[in-house]
Amino acid sequence: MGKTALTVLSASYLHYVKGYNVAVIDCDYPQHSIAEMRERDVEQVKNDLHYKQLAYFQFKSLQKKAYQVEESNAADAVRVANRLQAENDLDFIFFDLPGTLNTKGVITTLAMLDYVFIPVSADRVVLESSLQFATIIRDNLITTGKSNIKDMRLIWNMVDGRERTELYNAYDGAIQELGLQTMQTVIPDTKRFRREMNELHRAVFRSTLFPVDKTLVKNSNISELADEICIIAKK
Ligand SMILES: Nc1ncnc2c1ncn2[C@@H]1O[C@H](COP(=O)(O)OP(=O)(O)OP(=O)(O)O)[C@@H](O)[C@H]1O
Ligand SMILES: [Mg+2]
Repeated sequence: MGKTALTVLSASYLHYVKGYNVAVIDCDYPQHSIAEMRERDVEQVKNDLHYKQLAYFQFKSLQKKAYQVEESNAADAVRVANRLQAENDLDFIFFDLPGTLNTKGVITTLAMLDYVFIPVSADRVVLESSLQFATIIRDNLITTGKSNIKDMRLIWNMVDGRERTELYNAYDGAIQELGLQTMQTVIPDTKRFRREMNELHRAVFRSTLFPVDKTLVKNSNISELADEICIIAKK
């Protein structure tokens, strides 16, 4: 859980704070949650003077546009990515893919990616299915050499600080035994994830037009996540 949220948070941080050129391919058919989020964000900025000014100053100082969010189905995602890459000089293209391998096109598209990041949470049933997903990718695509994948990482998400040590140590042991790798950065369970632009004008956490607000980034580990993604992807 957290594929869509972590895609947006990482993409926004890398594009608006770190200065990389990013694009997002939203393959979350039929919801297209990120494309929908972008539409909502654009409407909000258009209709709200406060956010309009924020956007004006941000884009003026960045001297570039918001990152592109393209809708696609899983099967056509790489074609869409190639088109975007030909039109722009992109450092990162994020694919928000369905979490099931039986969706048409997911396996062939996964095989074309450079890196695969899989958010996991400490719910036994959810974790089991995520580990199974990761193991299938490893055994069928990575170790067979039938893919472009250079690295695959699990990301602990929705980590409850109080539960951290024991439970997570046990799970980490099991993950290691399976030969899978986790990222060092863990993402805490926090109400901030619900914080989008609203009429109260409080600091924004999750947006496709702004990075996580400076006052909220501390302890969210989003900047650490973005930095670790850069290290893994050698950017
Ligand atoms: N670390 C977190 N703390 C609090 N809430 C979170 C966290 N990560 C995700 N969420 C929330 O959990 C919900 C599910 O997350 P998200 O939509 O990113 O998952 P997903 O993997 O994309 O799901 P789906 O399989 O439906 O596409 C969202 O409401 C999101 O805001
Ligand atoms: Mg999603």
